[in-house]
Amino acid sequence: MPITQTREITPASRLANVRYAIRDLACYADEVTKQGHKILPLNIGDPNVFDFVTPSHLIEAVYAAMRENKNGYAPSSGITQAVEAIRGEAAKKGITTVQDVFVTSGVSETVDLCLAALLNPGEDLLTPCPDYPLYSAVLAKLGIGLNAYYLNEDDGWQPDLDDIKRKITPRTRGIVLINPNNPTGSVCTRAMLEEIAELARRHNLVILADEIYDKLILDDDEHVAFAAVAPDVPTVTFGGLSKNYLAPGWRIGWGIVSGDAAAVKPYNDGIQKLLRARLCANHPEQYAIKPALEGPQDHLIEVRRKLRSRRDLTVKMCNAMPRVHCVSPRGAFYAFPSIDIPEGDDVFVRELILQKHVMVVHGSGFGQKPGTQHFRIVFLPDEKTLEKAYAAIAELMRERYF
Ligand SMILES: Cc1ncc(COP(=O)(O)O)c(C=O)c1O
Repeated sequence: MPITQTREITPASRLANVRYAIRDLACYADEVTKQGHKILPLNIGDPNVFDFVTPSHLIEAVYAAMRENKNGYAPSSGITQAVEAIRGEAAKKGITTVQDVFVTSGVSETVDLCLAALLNPGEDLLTPCPDYPLYSAVLAKLGIGLNAYYLNEDDGWQPDLDDIKRKITPRTRGIVLINPNNPTGSVCTRAMLEEIAELARRHNLVILADEIYDKLILDDDEHVAFAAVAPDVPTVTFGGLSKNYLAPGWRIGWGIVSGDAAAVKPYNDGIQKLLRARLCANHPEQYAIKPALEGPQDHLIEVRRKLRSRRDLTVKMCNAMPRVHCVSPRGAFYAFPSIDIPEGDDVFVRELILQKHVMVVHGSGFGQKPGTQHFRIVFLPDEKTLEKAYAAIAELMRERYF
C-alpha cells in the first residue's frame, strides 16, 4: 500500500529534561559568527582550544600503539597496563581498599554507567547544585527525578551539609561529589569529606567522587580523595586524561571502585555487566594512561602557573565590576560569579553573546539557589583575551543596568 502521510516521529518524553546549557548556547554564537564577528569563548572547558597542548610523550605512546595495530577491540575493563597504572594512581591518592578499576570513553561514560548500574525508577541520587549538567542529563535519560543539594556560596561553595541531611530520603542511593568543582572551582575540605562519609555510613549510600580535576589545585590546598578518608564506604572515584593530561578529544576516563569488598561487589558486578555490553573504551588511546600517570608530570607545573595567573586576573576584574561578586576558585579552571541584575541570567548571557561577542554560560544552566543569578567563566584563555572579555562584560553591565 502506498504511504500517503508522513507522521512525525516523537522522541521519548523523558528527554524533555535533558539539557546541556554549555553547548545549547551555540545558536547565538552562530548568529554572531555569521555577521562576521569573532566570539571570545569563555564557555567550554577544553584546554586544547587555548594555549595548552597534550604532552608529546602521550601522543607518541598512542601513535606507537596504532602503528603496532592495537586498533581492534580492547578488554571491556581496559588494557592490563592501563588498569595497573590506575591502581598505582589510586594508591598515590591514598585509596587503600580498591576492589576494581575500569577504563571508559571519558568520565562522561563512567557517569553514564555508574548511574545506570545504581538507580531504579523511584530512587534518587543527591547531585550538587550548581552541578556539572551531565549528571542531571543522565538522570533525566534514566527517568530519575532530580534531588539536588546546594553548594554554599557563603562558605566558598562547600557542600551545604544541612541541606544534604534534609534531602536524604529512604529512596536515596548515593551522593555525587565533584571535587575540585565544576562550575565553582571549590575544593572540598577534609573535614567536609569526613562529615559526608558519616552520612554515607548512616544511610548506606554510594559516593560517586568525580575527581577529574584533582591535579589542578591552584593554591597550597591538598587535594584529598574522598575514598582515602572513607576506605570502608562504597565509592567510585572518577578520573581521566581530559583535564589533567590535556587530551579531552581522546575520550579516556576511568573509575576506581573502593570500599568494603562485600558491600560493593553486587554494584560492581552491575557496572561490569554494562562495561561488557558496550564492548570497550577507545583502544589505542588507552596506551597513554600508563605514561601519563607514571611518566613526567612537568606539564602540570606550567598548567597550574598559567591557571593561577588567569584565575587571579578573573577574580580581580570580576570583583571590580558593579553588581558582580566572585568567590576565588581554588581548583580546576572555572569561576562562578554572582550577578545582581533585574532580569534572568540567561537573558544577560544571550545579550553578552549578541552585543559583546563574549560567550559565558548562564548560572541557571547549572542550577542555582532560587533568587540568585550567576554566570560561569572558563578562565583558560590567555590574559589578553580575558582582559578584553571582562572589559566587555563590565561595559554591558554599565549599559544595561545603570
Ligand atoms: C566535573 C566533570 N566531570 C566529567 C566531565 C567529562 O569529562 P570527560 O571529558 O572525561 O568525559 C567534565 C567535563 O568537563 C567535568 O567537568
